[in-house]
Amino acid sequence: MIEIIDLAYLRVGAANLDEAAQFATETIGLQEVRREDDRVYVRGDDRDHDICYVQGGVEEHVVGFEVSDEASMESAFDDLSATGVEVGWGSEKENADRRVGKFFKFFDPTGNKFEIVLRPQKSPRRYFPTRDAGISEFSHVGLKTTDAPRDEKFWTTHFNIRPNDWIGDAGLLSFDSVHHRIALFPADKPGIQHINFQVDSIDDVMRSYYYLSDKQVHIVFGPGRHVTSGAMFLYYEGPDDMIYEYSHGVKIIDDPNYRPRQFPFTPDAFCAWGAKPDIPEFRD
Ligand SMILES: [Fe+2]
Repeated sequence: MIEIIDLAYLRVGAANLDEAAQFATETIGLQEVRREDDRVYVRGDDRDHDICYVQGGVEEHVVGFEVSDEASMESAFDDLSATGVEVGWGSEKENADRRVGKFFKFFDPTGNKFEIVLRPQKSPRRYFPTRDAGISEFSHVGLKTTDAPRDEKFWTTHFNIRPNDWIGDAGLLSFDSVHHRIALFPADKPGIQHINFQVDSIDDVMRSYYYLSDKQVHIVFGPGRHVTSGAMFLYYEGPDDMIYEYSHGVKIIDDPNYRPRQFPFTPDAFCAWGAKPDIPEFRD
């Protein structure tokens, strides 16, 4: 069993790095950390970076997960390769550009790319954005899946990941007490489906709703409240068709007897307030 302790980072392909960086800083409210070669690093918390935008497309999408120590990392590598999953260590250069001690790569059955990392760096300086969106943390990622039950089984078999609810086949999965860290969305190809940042209050969600509307950013869902996690949310579209989400109030599961619940794959299972998603993966 591979014990994930945290989300480490995302790598996201961008057709135009300047445009991606400008949207991240001026619209989302992230801080640009650095630019190197064909990469731009941004963050909204104490991590070195939450997202590394790299020149390219969806084929560059990567989700990084942190494990606690070297022994966990070695056994994770051995466990996955023993079950026939192709795994490969990152090079020194790749370690350096990710700001991690070391890492290895693999694909899930859909073809999404993942990296298991050891000792990802924290920033020595506090997060200081140019736009005050109230972001407190990079918290979860939506992932496209061509077969949600199969991919859920992959995560629950090899990792300390469990479902906390389902909307249709779409599992809301977690490795800790936060209601979901990975949200699976049925789709016909791999890729990151959305990127979530928690904000400090409902006021931040609503302030951003008016701010983004005023800037004519495409709001794709919300403001609303998720029935499953209880989080109040706003989803909007950035460059390269990437969906970003602000949310506040995600359920923390501390009841050891909590059981996952099955909801129908309908708009009212996504939003308790009646907002309708304009997101292909959220519709039947
Ligand atoms: Fe989300």
